[in-house]
Order: sequence, then structure tokens, then C-alpha cells
Amino acid sequence: MMGSALLQSWLKHDHLFSKVIVVTPHQESVTPFQDADRVCWFAHPGEVDLHPDIILFAVKPQVLPQIISLYQRFLTHNPLFLTVVAGFARAFYEHALPHVSLIRIMPNLPVRVHKGMSALCANAAATPAQQQQCESLMQQVGRVIWVENDEQIDVVTAVAGCGPAYVYLLAEALEKGAEHLGLDTEKAALLARQTIIGAASYLEATDQSVHSLRQQVTSPGGMTEAAVAILQQNRQFDIMFKEALNAAMIRAKQLQERT
Ligand SMILES: NC(=O)c1ccc[n+]([C@@H]2O[C@H](COP(=O)([O-])OP(=O)(O)OC[C@H]3O[C@@H](n4cnc5c(N)ncnc54)[C@H](OP(=O)(O)O)[C@@H]3O)[C@@H](O)[C@H]2O)c1
Repeated sequence: MMGSALLQSWLKHDHLFSKVIVVTPHQESVTPFQDADRVCWFAHPGEVDLHPDIILFAVKPQVLPQIISLYQRFLTHNPLFLTVVAGFARAFYEHALPHVSLIRIMPNLPVRVHKGMSALCANAAATPAQQQQCESLMQQVGRVIWVENDEQIDVVTAVAGCGPAYVYLLAEALEKGAEHLGLDTEKAALLARQTIIGAASYLEATDQSVHSLRQQVTSPGGMTEAAVAILQQNRQFDIMFKEALNAAMIRAKQLQERT
């Protein structure tokens, strides 16, 4: 999903790549891109007889250790390696691919609609020009920040990588609440969905802080204030989120220990 989402966006810009090689065991995964003359498919990296400037890993975490050493053959031309794979620190790649120029990327699902939030973390070997190249690529699909280390990539994953799930959970809760108050399923779903879409679009269209936007919808003594008072009783909403993000960080460490 993430690899094809990025490729789909990048292919829209003719100037980005003259040729793209997709390596995957399944040729049918490349079918959506076959109309693009620039895309070719190989089942195995050993079959690739070209020297790419950029190599992107977008496999599931459990697949990466099985395939990474197959990419040592490309190191002679010092390409830039990019990876969106969660849970592997830069040291893992540096061990498997000696002297690699590497940038870890943590994108999130809205890259699909060019509204992604991506964090980038380079290793010492990645040159300023390579860093600029990676930043430009990820800017095609949303906003970009640089972070300093792998720990901060975990923070970004906990907040922005997992973040769409928190927003959809909120939408599900709103939907269930609307049904509980007597609306039919279809109307409840529309209310929840459009409220999230509208709030996010308005946030994007204004320079105001989220705090000030929230205050605008919270008249003293009104309905919103009554509802927010329940959500924030003893700051429980803030505390719940802090605990949720901590749980994601702990899980990140556990997953890394397994690798
Ligand atoms: N989804 C997200 O929101 C998100 C966000 C941040 C980071 N990520 C990271 O992105 C990575 C991919 O996640 P995903 O959700 O996009 O998974 P996915 O949809 O399962 O994509 C994995 C891709 O790897 C391909 N593949 C399988 N075996 C391969 C092999 N031996 N060599 C080369 N390619 C192979 C698959 O090809 P076929 O389709 O042909 O099987 C598929 O296209 C994960 O490591 C995840 O941590 C995902």
C-alpha cells in the first residue's frame, strides 16, 4: 500500500524519475502502473542489471530481514537507500549494507491524498544533496519534518503514523453516540464523517491554533462546554492520550528488540 501510494504520486510528475524499477514477487502488483512507460518489473533484485540512484524499501517489517542482503550488490554505485519500514533503526541497515547512504521515512496513510505527514531521519553517510532529494520527493505527498534519531521516528510513528487510527476511532465513537441518541445508522455515519472532514479542512484553511478553534466552538455555558467538561474531567482526555502514546512507544521498543 505505502509503496504503491508513493509511486502513484511520484509518477504524476514526469521530471522526478526517468525510469522506475519495481521489485516484488507478484507481477500483478505492478499492473496499475503498466501504462507508464517508465515502470518495469523484476521478481528478484538479482535480476536487476541497472544501477538505480534511489532504492526504496516498502516491504512489511517481517520481510525486510529476508531480503536486505540481496541489495548489497547495488552499493558499488552508492545509491540513496530510503525506507518506510517501521521498527528498524538505521544501525540495522548500516550493518546489513556497509557504508550505506540511508534515510528513514515515516509517512502516514494520508499520503494517498497528498496530505501526508512524514518524518525523515538521515544517517551520517547521506549527503545534503541526497537529503534534499528525499525531502522533495516526500513534499509531493504532504508535509515533511526532519528528526534527529530513531527514537524520534518512534515518536512520529506513535503520533502521526498511528494518528489516522485515533481520528477514525473518534469518528466511530461519534457515530455510535449519534445512533444512541436516536439517529439512523446512515445519518449517524454521515454526521461523524463530515464533521471530521469539515473540522480538518477548516483547520487547514486557517492560521489559528487548534486551541483557539476549539474555543470558538465552545460558548460559555453552552452544549459544547458541557460535553468537553465530561471528556476532560480531571484532564482524563489528555491523560488517556499520553498513556496511549506511551503504549505505542513501548510496543515500538518491543518490536525492535525482536529484530
Ligand atoms: N500503511 C501505512 O500507513 C504505513 C505507514 C508508515 C510506514 N508503513 C510501512 O510500510 C511498509 C509496508 O506496509 P504496507 O501497509 O504498505 O504493506 P503492504 O501493502 O503489504 O505492502 C508490502 C509490499 O511489499 C511487497 N513484497 C512482498 N514481498 C516482497 C519481496 N520479497 N520483495 C519485494 N517486495 C515484496 C508486496 O508485494 P505484493 O503486493 O506483490 O505482495 C507489497 O507491495 C511496512 O513496513 C510499514 O511499516 C506503512
